[in-house]
Amino acid sequence: MTTRLVVLVSGAGTNLQALIDACADPAYGARVVAVGADRDDIEALARADRHGIPSFVKQVSQFSSREHWDRALADTVAGFEPDLVVSAGFMKLVSEDFLARHTTVNTHPALLPSFPGMHGAADALAYGVKVTGATLFIVDGGVDTGPIVAQTVVPVIDDDTVETLHERIKIAERTMLVDTVGLMARDGWELDGRRVRLG
Ligand code: GRF
Repeated sequence: MTTRLVVLVSGAGTNLQALIDACADPAYGARVVAVGADRDDIEALARADRHGIPSFVKQVSQFSSREHWDRALADTVAGFEPDLVVSAGFMKLVSEDFLARHTTVNTHPALLPSFPGMHGAADALAYGVKVTGATLFIVDGGVDTGPIVAQTVVPVIDDDTVETLHERIKIAERTMLVDTVGLMARDGWELDGRRVRLG
């Protein structure tokens, strides 16, 4: 059984690319069956195209309300019958209805619960922490509050800018994402309260 992944993106799609590359090995246990975005003209969609992966765009502005957008997104995702939705740099929150239909994991560029929100790398740098990193979590109704599946640590160095720090986080983040989604696909996971056990 190969785990069917739908990956949601908003930008460069380097995390998506890492998943696509991992899925090329049948032993990985997962396949990206579709890529969804909330905007056009992004490199992530070009990556999907280059690999012959179906993609779709649902822009909030195309809908009369956020609820309609969310339902259309959930319906389109459902059409691809995913076992797991991976939000990889997707810059939108989805509703509880979406999450009831689709188990979704999200990757965040900080060590949650520190520095949730849109600017994880910048906020960590401004605070002056000496280590930060990335977190993969199961999305719940909050902003970056769901049960943590995996984390990876990245040192902050004195000369870091937001860009250099975020780029180093992204290298570790891609490895964490690929390793963890592979484990989830092959071995499954259990949730005990907030604690996630892989395998
Ligand atoms: C990642 O660091 C993700 O955690 C953050 O935005 C970045 C997306 O990178 N939300 P990419 O589009 O996968 O290259």
